[in-house]
Amino acid sequence: MGKKGRRLGWGLLAAGMLCLIALARPEPAVPVDGVLAEGAEETARPAQGGLLALTFDDGPRRSTTTALLDGLAERGVHATFFLVGGRVENGMGDLVERMDREGHQIGIHTYDHVALTGLNRADFDAQVGRTRRLLTGLLGHDSFALRPPYGAIDAGVRANAGSPLILWSVDPEDWDTDDPQKVAEHIVSHAQDGDIILLHDIFPSSVEAALLAVDRLHQRGFYFVTVDELLSARHIQQENGVSYRCAYP
Ligand code: NI
Repeated sequence: MGKKGRRLGWGLLAAGMLCLIALARPEPAVPVDGVLAEGAEETARPAQGGLLALTFDDGPRRSTTTALLDGLAERGVHATFFLVGGRVENGMGDLVERMDREGHQIGIHTYDHVALTGLNRADFDAQVGRTRRLLTGLLGHDSFALRPPYGAIDAGVRANAGSPLILWSVDPEDWDTDDPQKVAEHIVSHAQDGDIILLHDIFPSSVEAALLAVDRLHQRGFYFVTVDELLSARHIQQENGVSYRCAYP
């Protein structure tokens, strides 16, 4: 099989695997604050392989996000993008439409990239509601998960969120280095089934690292899906104002 065919094959295999997992696990699990509730599935993670969700914060950025979308498309990989509304409104609408069209999940990362803790209702709306309305105007739907900048959550954030809060379980701190090998190595050595991986698509080195990690993890039997697909595969029903770090307790 040629390179293109092999990559398309990965995408089809990932879709098939999702169906198999969905069939194999019929009981729903109730999430509580990023972990599963008592009595929920305590299945051990498989020693190797499984499903992973790549997530990208702080974009879009014309050059780097375009390169990333090209690389993901070549590999048949779907990711999740938590967007900064101010960047979207600054001429990046076509990139957001491309993400949506190509099967990626889109979420909110505030309008100005500010911490949401301590904000009153109006200020919260100016960050999250404004970005939600902007994305709805572009895409025609309003189901956008929220990733609070810095992962900062308080009672007000939970009450005002109006959507699930998506955190992460693997953090290679890609903003702190320009060495893609180092970032890729962190991801490859830490990733386990059900993990949500944090990256930033505004850095060229992060885009390179993400694609390196995808290629290495594909060889180890991992498949890449959106956050919604990752949680659904484990029968986790997302609720507004509840945070999720991973698809396991
Ligand atoms: Ni951020």
